Amino acid sequence: MRVTVNNLTFAYTQKLVLSNISFSLKSGEFLTIHGKNGTGKTTLIRCFLKMLKVNDGMIYLDDMDINHIKTFSNIGYVPQKTDFNYEFPITVFEILSCAYLKKRDAYYTKIINDFDLNKIYHENINNLSGGQLQRVFIARALLNRPKLLILDEPTVGVDVDNIKTLHETLQNLKQEGITIILVSHDMEFCQDITDYYLILNELGDYEFKKAGDNNVSS
Ligand SMILES: Nc1ncnc2c1ncn2[C@@H]1O[C@H](COP(=O)(O)OP(=O)(O)OP(=O)(O)O)[C@@H](O)[C@H]1O
Ligand SMILES: [Mg+2]
Repeated sequence: MRVTVNNLTFAYTQKLVLSNISFSLKSGEFLTIHGKNGTGKTTLIRCFLKMLKVNDGMIYLDDMDINHIKTFSNIGYVPQKTDFNYEFPITVFEILSCAYLKKRDAYYTKIINDFDLNKIYHENINNLSGGQLQRVFIARALLNRPKLLILDEPTVGVDVDNIKTLHETLQNLKQEGITIILVSHDMEFCQDITDYYLILNELGDYEFKKAGDNNVSS
């Protein structure tokens, strides 16, 4: 999926968070978003998903203005951990079933196995560790077979083996032509597959650069 952002500006009442941001991605390109806490990474993701209405500017997905998109069925989204209400009474099986309405097939089983979800399949999410829950959300996003996958700090609280699995999965998805937007403070996690960096700074300022152009700090 192609992504185009033109002059995007967003403010929470009086507080300007994103100012005049522009960039574009082709299908299969990988963008890593960096920036200190509070610089607007999650806010930008929320603008993409129409959870927030931008003050100015446009977002296009495959040349379609997002304001004209009714469902985001081909977008996979892994929210930042702090964005989720953990008290909600639902099992892993139920969360995954909502994302996969058709009959379970080899693809479904592969995702369950890849993310080691068999042992916790019938657990209530309240009983999961932070890392286990994160794996459930990553699996859920992938079940959609998304054309655009957005992950907001997906490695926080996840152990080394599962971070490795996620890295391999993202590498494979990129090869399949899926566009990926990753928010991460972990500079090493995807440096070998990142095509572009978007670095958000305070007061809405930003840099968009091709991987390898310069050193990036976060
Ligand atoms: N609902 C809200 N109302 C008002 N201000 C908000 C709201 N949500 C976030 N903010 C503010 O907007 C700024 C950007 O927040 P955001 O959550 O996008 O940052 P972030 O880059 O994702 O940070 P982190 O690295 O901590 O996840 C912060 O200053 C935050 O306090
Ligand atoms: Mg955030």
